[in-house]
Formats: sequence, structure tokens, C-alpha cells
Amino acid sequence: MAQLAVNVDHVATLRQARGVTYPEPVAAAVAAETAGADGIVVHLRGDRRHIQERDVRLLRKIVQSRLILEMAATNEMLGIALDIKPDCVTLVPETREELSTEGGLDLVSHQNHILEAVSTLKNAGIDVCIFIDPDLDQIKIAHKIDADMIEIHTGAFCDAKSSKQKQKEFSKIVDAAKIGTRLNLEVNVGHGICYNSIKAFKGLSEINEFSIGHSIVGRAILTGMEQAVRDMKQLISSL
Ligand code: PXP
Repeated sequence: MAQLAVNVDHVATLRQARGVTYPEPVAAAVAAETAGADGIVVHLRGDRRHIQERDVRLLRKIVQSRLILEMAATNEMLGIALDIKPDCVTLVPETREELSTEGGLDLVSHQNHILEAVSTLKNAGIDVCIFIDPDLDQIKIAHKIDADMIEIHTGAFCDAKSSKQKQKEFSKIVDAAKIGTRLNLEVNVGHGICYNSIKAFKGLSEINEFSIGHSIVGRAILTGMEQAVRDMKQLISSL
């Protein structure tokens, strides 16, 4: 069964909307782990719109599974990662205007810079995952620069409006997962996956981990975090 890493950014989004001290993302992480989450993910953004450095530091102390830090490969973030030492860093692109991460990292254009970040993090004992679009050239470079894992961006598939478009986008994910596995990269997927779109992944045994946030936090508002994570685990176990 593939693993489930639960992203708790949007618990912090709700907190930051009012500038208060609740809801607490650390409490959500504990509840997610209680329900079987295999990892906890947070994205510390340059603009600190949701997760704060304090959250990452607390999570480092409290998370029992794996702490996965999503971040841009900036000097500021590299310094924080080397200090806090999450189990894994997922390198993502970041722009100030975007609502959420809008695409994978372009390794074709930023290969040298990302290579340096990968080696800095790996030398500190941190596993490195690179968030990329399902594109053969990107995967080959991720392998070449010695990433441990790739996370395939599933946003275009999840957002596709027609079933024809969905099929087209999904076949890119399947090809990318197979190529990544052949290159000995661990293959994760994430972005936009919900309680419906998860079902498309049935039989795609190359996937090591699903990274899911918004849909779980959205459901948790109605059902509670533990039930929301259990529901998703159950769907993954039936793939
Ligand atoms: N993976 C990456 C790299 C992301 O940037 C995000 C969004 O923060 C996710 C997974 C989770 O996406 P969602 O919140 O849509 O499930």
C-alpha cells in the first residue's frame, strides 16, 4: 500500500486569516498521525502566508512519522532546513502571486542551482525530493543531480475539466512514474488530489507516497482530522 503524507498548511491558513493562535497545525499533525498518516508535510513559504518557522520547529519535536518540509531552494530556506533538519525536503518553485504551487520545478533551466541545493541537503543527512511536472526531461535531470525522490505534480490532471483531458494528463503521470521507478527514484505524487481523483491511481504500483493537504483539511473541518485521514487511508488501501 502506498503511503500518505498529510499536508497541514491550510490549518495554518485558517489561523493566519485571523492572526490568532488557533487552530494549531501541530495538533492537526498529531491527529493525522493517530489516524495513520505516514508523514506530515508543511510548506514554509518566503511570504509566511500560512506555516511559520515556529510551526516547523515544533513539528520537528513532535512528529513521530516523517517530517517533510516543502520549500524553495533559497539561501534563507536552506539555512532553516539545515538548522531544523526535517527528514525530507521537497524542493518546489515559488512565486508570490500564486494561490498555491502552480507547476513543477524547471530543472532544465535551474539545474546547477538545484544541484547545489540537493548536495547541501544530502550532505546534512536530509532526503531530497524534487517536485516536477510529469516530463521525461525533468525526470532525467532529477536523476542526474542525485535526488532521492521525485514528486510528480498532479495538478494538471486534478484540474482537467474534460474526461479526455483528464486521461491525457493521467497518462503523463503513469509514464513519469514508470520512468522514475526505472531510474531508481522513489516516486511520490501530489497537488490537488481529492477523495474522488485518488481513485484514478488504482493499480499504479510505482507510487510510493501520496502528498495530500487541501482536500483532507477541507474534509476535516466537517468530520475531524482523524476521520478525514482514515477515509483517505481506506481509499489508498483499496487502490
Ligand atoms: N505537493 C506539493 C509540492 C505542494 O506544493 C502541495 C501544495 O502545498 C501539495 C503537494 C498538496 O496539495 P493539495 O493541498 O492540493 O493536496
